[in-house]
Amino acid sequence: MKNQQIKDTITRWHIFDDPDAVAAEAVQRILNSASQAISERGVFRLVLSGGHTPEATYRLLVGADTDWSCWEIYFGDERCLPVEDPDRNSIMADNTFLDSVAIPAANIYPMPSEKGAEAAAKEYEAVVKAAIPFDVVLLGIGEDGHTGSLFPGQKHPTDELVHPVHNSPKPPLDRVTMSVRALSDAQEVLVLATGEGKQDAIKAWKAGKPVPISEIGGPAPVDVLMDKAAVGESD
Ligand code: 6PG
Repeated sequence: MKNQQIKDTITRWHIFDDPDAVAAEAVQRILNSASQAISERGVFRLVLSGGHTPEATYRLLVGADTDWSCWEIYFGDERCLPVEDPDRNSIMADNTFLDSVAIPAANIYPMPSEKGAEAAAKEYEAVVKAAIPFDVVLLGIGEDGHTGSLFPGQKHPTDELVHPVHNSPKPPLDRVTMSVRALSDAQEVLVLATGEGKQDAIKAWKAGKPVPISEIGGPAPVDVLMDKAAVGESD
């Protein structure tokens, strides 16, 4: 699938046989960026995606040969749930990745969504301001073309790096999300999409429809790692 210019962003589409191949490619790209960032700046700043699609990537990262002490972890969005709630993206990331690697606790920045959307967004705005530009931003895509917790039809002030979200069409209703500007301020943006459920969203994106995912991108190209099911290709 050829590269595409959507707005002023180069979007590069990559198709793989299955979700495992997507995860393997994502891990390779993340580790390449990590070794480059660590050798150039001594630190690697990674934004994690929520949802289920990145879980395979996180599990695969556990075995990586890297200097974990130089990694800093941020979250693209979070659900307003109690700290230990298993439906939090932070808990998913702990269970599949962070609890199994030696990233210093002080280098992991969960969104304090247990404090409520407004308070958490205000607090995390300062964290993001101090961290950007990120090295790699990982994103998923929802069936309606949402990404992070940026949903179709929901408007947010463009001067914010982090938004409080209410009336989310995907439970829970209250969430916190990095803005389009923050999620685009990276050396590399990787979007992971697997399964036939993502076909309509991918088609809408490619057709230039105003879905939230199409807003992402800046100087860095956006690489979309998809499996055949997500683009409706059979073997
Ligand atoms: C969330 C995510 C959300 C997710 C998409 C795709 O908190 O729910 O950040 O944006 O990435 O909804 O979810 P799946 O990967 O589970 O399909």
